[in-house]
Amino acid sequence: MRVLVHINDANIWRTALTKRLPNAEIVTSEGDSDTPADYLAAWKPPSTLLEKQTQLKGIINLGAGVDALLSNPALPKNVPIVKLRDAGMGPLIADYVRFGVLYFQRDFDRYFAQQTNARWHEFPLIDKADWPVGVLGLGAIGAHVAQALAADGFPVHGWSRSPKSLEGVSCHHGDDGLSQLLGKVQTLVTLLPNTPSTRGIINAETLSQLPEGASLINPGRGALIDEQALLDALGQDRSSGRLRGALLDAFDEEPLPASNPLWSHPRVRITPHMAGPTPVRDAADQVAELIKAMENGDSLETVDPHAGY
Ligand code: GLV
Repeated sequence: MRVLVHINDANIWRTALTKRLPNAEIVTSEGDSDTPADYLAAWKPPSTLLEKQTQLKGIINLGAGVDALLSNPALPKNVPIVKLRDAGMGPLIADYVRFGVLYFQRDFDRYFAQQTNARWHEFPLIDKADWPVGVLGLGAIGAHVAQALAADGFPVHGWSRSPKSLEGVSCHHGDDGLSQLLGKVQTLVTLLPNTPSTRGIINAETLSQLPEGASLINPGRGALIDEQALLDALGQDRSSGRLRGALLDAFDEEPLPASNPLWSHPRVRITPHMAGPTPVRDAADQVAELIKAMENGDSLETVDPHAGY
């Protein structure tokens, strides 16, 4: 069996997978992307690579979001795709979101803004129990984040398209459920996949349903957010706008162009899509298990290209 790996630092993956699949030949796309492989384990493979790989029995997406892979015109039609589920990304993204929620709940944004004027002023503490957080998307990562925040003591509201139940989390679904959630939360976290039905879900209308002074954290996908509507909701300067601030990790265009006004908005914090890098050790365990299962013909939860996740 031959497994082709395509990702940055593919040699680390090659070593990790060789240990876990000792009978397989693991090659990287830098070494040889031409010889037909049985399985492709890849993050954002180029069309040229997919076009050459005509004998694949399965593709493993080396990340949580499959939007980039599904939009590749050279993606073969009848090859099953599986994706990583959490695989160590959940805890990393939960830490990122914790940082963001505390940044707003404990007024770090205001304290750092005061620092520019050497102003010493303490704001009254708002208890975690009075700081409801909304998590849009309750897939493996969204569910992990929602439950981590609930365990920290925040009231958490989760939202998914179809009904779900999660211990410790008030779950909402559908369009009405989204409006109910938006009206309640101080901080909104977006962890939905990028699909035709989620694109631009954070827009002028949904932003206007958030309470005055709410904040946004997006470690998910840039396409979920209508950037102009976000900028309008933030307002032009330090004090205006109904939205207090945003912590953003994912953007429609990455790297975020230097000319994008989000960079210089005083109440926007930007990170370069680092919230949930795929941890090789956890992920390699999952990739090896997925390949073994596909090889055995076990039934697996595969990606539905029409749903987009
Ligand atoms: C990263 O953005 C991922 O989808 O894993």
